[in-house]
Amino acid sequence: MSVTDQDYQLFVFALKNSSKYDFSQYSEKSMKRRILKVMTDHTLTITALVSKIKNDPAFVERIVKDITVNTSELFRDPQVWQALRFNILPRFKNNSIINIWHAGCSTGQEVYSMLILLNELNMLDKARIYATDINTDVIDAARQGEYRYRFNLNYLDNFDKVIRENPFNYEEYKEVPYEKYFTLDKSSDTIRMHPFLREKPVFKKHDLVVDNNTLYVKFDLILCRNVIIYFNYNLQCRVFDLFHQNLYDTGCLVLGLHETILGPHSAKFLKRGHAYNKGQS
Ligand SMILES: C[S@@+](CC[C@H](N)C(=O)[O-])C[C@H]1O[C@@H](n2cnc3c(N)ncnc32)[C@H](O)[C@@H]1O
Repeated sequence: MSVTDQDYQLFVFALKNSSKYDFSQYSEKSMKRRILKVMTDHTLTITALVSKIKNDPAFVERIVKDITVNTSELFRDPQVWQALRFNILPRFKNNSIINIWHAGCSTGQEVYSMLILLNELNMLDKARIYATDINTDVIDAARQGEYRYRFNLNYLDNFDKVIRENPFNYEEYKEVPYEKYFTLDKSSDTIRMHPFLREKPVFKKHDLVVDNNTLYVKFDLILCRNVIIYFNYNLQCRVFDLFHQNLYDTGCLVLGLHETILGPHSAKFLKRGHAYNKGQS
């Protein structure tokens, strides 16, 4: 079975016309893969799938969740978190408040990585953390802050690299116990974040395709990592505009390791290491 250009158009326009979701500006290649998965999982032809989209709102909510890719990790790409620890977050050390937005937070590992790092930098009290996603299931999972332990063994390696080790001075090693931040229960195969972390962020549904700043604050730092990779050029531009408008002039944007700002929007930010700084173009 394959998804033709016509199947793709039928799917996207059925969804756009029958719901508030618009996937017409997502990367066509990855959308076709996801549509194929939906058709296979639900054993539906494209005609049956389109008909279900038009007539079954609950099914629409279900497949929107199936379409989004939710992979995440604690301290994903440790080098980016090392940059946050040594270069980016210290810039805001003297702020009385630091507003941080995780756009496309998925199941929350990125948010907990930030909370742990801020606590180690003694900046947690003044941080206001906002975490949003289009998918309400992953937001619920993020609120729970519970992850499979064995499946995610590399979480502890990442924690060591970012929190315990100093890549600029290998003799400097901080004995930070994992239990300071999460309960590690090998018998139930879980890692559960402590309440003081779970209670801190504001988690909210937000769709980067259509919503503006529904958080109603300006930001010092926006993380939008491994999200725009699924968007086409026009949608990426919309998102960069949204972020640019809602960052303070001293603020900065952090993208996924393999994501960059292309085209005219690249002139609105100055790239320094892993940070796109606003206000220095
Ligand atoms: C691969 S995950 C990235 C998670 C995390 N930022 C990271 O890098 O580990 C991509 C997330 O983007 C979300 N997403 C996709 N389209 C979105 C949209 N239009 N608005 C908000 N979030 C979206 C997905 O639901 C998914 O949770």
